[in-house]
Amino acid sequence: MATESITLTQPDDWHVHLRDGEMLHQVAGYTARQFGRAIIMPNLPTPVTTVAMASAYRQRILAATQAYPEFKPLMTAYLTDTIGPQELISGHQQGVFTAAKLYPANATTNSSFGVSDIKKIYPVLEAMQKIGMPLLVHGEVVSNEIDIFDREAVFIDEIMQPLLRDLPELKVVFEHITTQDAADFVVSQSANIAATITVHHLQINRNHMLVGGIKPHLYCLPVAKREIHRLALRKAATSGSQKFFLGTDTAPHAIGDKESACGCAGIFSAPHALENYAQVFEEEGALENLEAFASLNGPAFYGLPVNQKKITLVKENQQIPSTFGQQALLVSPYKAGETLAWRLLSEQ
Ligand code: NCD
Ligand code: ZN
Repeated sequence: MATESITLTQPDDWHVHLRDGEMLHQVAGYTARQFGRAIIMPNLPTPVTTVAMASAYRQRILAATQAYPEFKPLMTAYLTDTIGPQELISGHQQGVFTAAKLYPANATTNSSFGVSDIKKIYPVLEAMQKIGMPLLVHGEVVSNEIDIFDREAVFIDEIMQPLLRDLPELKVVFEHITTQDAADFVVSQSANIAATITVHHLQINRNHMLVGGIKPHLYCLPVAKREIHRLALRKAATSGSQKFFLGTDTAPHAIGDKESACGCAGIFSAPHALENYAQVFEEEGALENLEAFASLNGPAFYGLPVNQKKITLVKENQQIPSTFGQQALLVSPYKAGETLAWRLLSEQ
């Protein structure tokens, strides 16, 4: 008989863009109603580079998630060419910075202040290695000569491998992997290297985005790749390996900024993230591994306890609304208007 409901330890989302201001208030509840904790990306228009900025941002997130008082945002520092080890260490010791995020300069949305040459931040990375603070990596090279579909694979050879040779104990999360190359690489490395996988990269390949007309709401970075890569990611996520865990990379942009001559990268997947992941695991015949991927592997890697609460998903159709939010900030969700096979029960 088909599974009709599953109860799991409450999951966490290890990669989230909550934005700020009105957009933060509009979207934060969708993450907080499902997840116990979330790793908050620091790529605000003015990046989160200091302990004071992260503390203030955390307060704004808590204010926006008051309806879910147990939700815990885990803050990250945005690495720049000039950030000092002291700021990071003191932020980590004060419990403000859970991790630090490496954006290669100009790789994606709000990354112009990112790192121009990883060698420039080696003192910072050495300090992080020493205190066991995780480095979260947007793994794409940015040179114009490199084809956008190859940027992740090239990053492994040019940046990731030398980095791990030089700093073999550094804890690294290869964020939102999109290729078989990245999945194989992570498996081949020691336990201090892990990866997050988004739900959209488990469900779409580049044809979904480009065939039959361009779908700007399926455009994100790293961009979806060929089908062989999607299949490799599904295998990795559902395998039960401790190295892979849930990170939606939910990244809302107002509809006008997506449906534009120069549309922004980012998929707003927060509202039905868990239902979509459950569908993937069910299709792969691996529902028994969903809890490890969604709720256990992430805390184990970060050295945090698992959540106490349980959540239940039931087999029940529901339709995803066509939009969320209002007026100028109206957002089109991932799979707008489509029907899902699972539903998250609201409160236990
Ligand atoms: C993210 C955003 O919009 O902030 N966009 C995306 O396509 N994922 C940035 C990022 O994580 O690359
Ligand atoms: Zn992201």
